[in-house]
Amino acid sequence: MKVTVRGERVSDYSQIAGVNYEAFLGWHPDNPYVAEPVIVDLLRHNALFDPELSLVAELDGEVVGHVLLSPFRFVVLGQEQPGVVLGPVGVRPGHQKAGIGTMLIEEGHKRAAAKGFALSVLCGHPEYYPRFGYRTGLFSLAGARVRMKPGGFDCSGLEERPVSARDVPWIVEAWEREHGRDSLALFPGTGVSSWSSHGPGTRCSVVLRQGTPLGYVRYEAAGPLRVKEILRNNGELPDLLAFILARRREQKPREVYLPLPEEAVRGQFPESERVDIVDEQVANEAFMIKVLDDSQTAVKEYCLETERKSIKPGIVVFPPMFDVDDGRHE
Ligand SMILES: CC(C)(COP(=O)(O)OP(=O)(O)OC[C@H]1O[C@@H](n2cnc3c(N)ncnc32)[C@H](O)[C@@H]1OP(=O)(O)O)[C@@H](O)C(=O)NCCC(=O)NCCS
Repeated sequence: MKVTVRGERVSDYSQIAGVNYEAFLGWHPDNPYVAEPVIVDLLRHNALFDPELSLVAELDGEVVGHVLLSPFRFVVLGQEQPGVVLGPVGVRPGHQKAGIGTMLIEEGHKRAAAKGFALSVLCGHPEYYPRFGYRTGLFSLAGARVRMKPGGFDCSGLEERPVSARDVPWIVEAWEREHGRDSLALFPGTGVSSWSSHGPGTRCSVVLRQGTPLGYVRYEAAGPLRVKEILRNNGELPDLLAFILARRREQKPREVYLPLPEEAVRGQFPESERVDIVDEQVANEAFMIKVLDDSQTAVKEYCLETERKSIKPGIVVFPPMFDVDDGRHE
């Protein structure tokens, strides 16, 4: 069996979609919607996308496996670091357990390290990825859970609209203010698709008062209220939260998960007797990081300090392109 691993070409796109469809269909056998081919397609539109990091495994002229490493800018211990998000990775079911996944992932790491990326981040099986040098339990998806008591927050005159390209400069500035000194953060990008809704299950909106943008919110449209990003422009956090809660009148209790540390949220509620704030910033084994460049001391130090529990696990918010996964719940 002679398998070749190489960077993708445009002529591979449909076969790559087929590989990801077949590989991930097994995860949800009762639902024909498979998000991974869509995620790959959306990530190809990211400004930092690099086709040399979208690798195919070819066997007898057929694409039988694929891995995508997507470049993103990270903040690690307050310093800017180039990194990649690894995923999806898939091998056609008939060719699994023959070492193809290993070849793809190892070549992906080699290429990403040679291009100067400092770290690789993923959400995956803790039994599988540590063999490639991933360290488990290194970040959280959530920060604080806020329970707001009714009344007192004025959200009259507030409205929302979809994000457009003209919003991106202030949203990017707001992101830098909010996350530029974080222990760990993933910058979604400078294109409008990095900030707008892709999945029907997640809404990305600009909240306005009399035409003035108060902030940006990205939140799940149904189920427990999870805010994936909330960035202030001219507005304050309590106003933005009150507005989202008001849109979800049916929900009780008035509870929201936020991707911001508990201490940062607490500081923004001066009348704290009307809110309960719970720290939900906990790492899960599935949230992993691999150090690609040993000379990058910030990444090594972040991993060590998080493992020693001398700092809290940082919060990673995967960009909206990954929200199409929500479509499977329609
Ligand atoms: C995961 C996947 C890419 C691995 O590719 P592969 O070519 O089968 O992997 P390899 O042959 O290089 O390695 C096989 C090893 O991986 C292990 N493995 C595969 N999938 C695994 C999983 N989900 N959890 C734990 N281990 C897994 C196998 O048990 C085997 O272990 P062994 O070497 O100790 O026997 C492939 O199985 C696949 O496409 N799965 C469906 C999609 C998927 O789950 N992608 C990963 C999302 S996190």
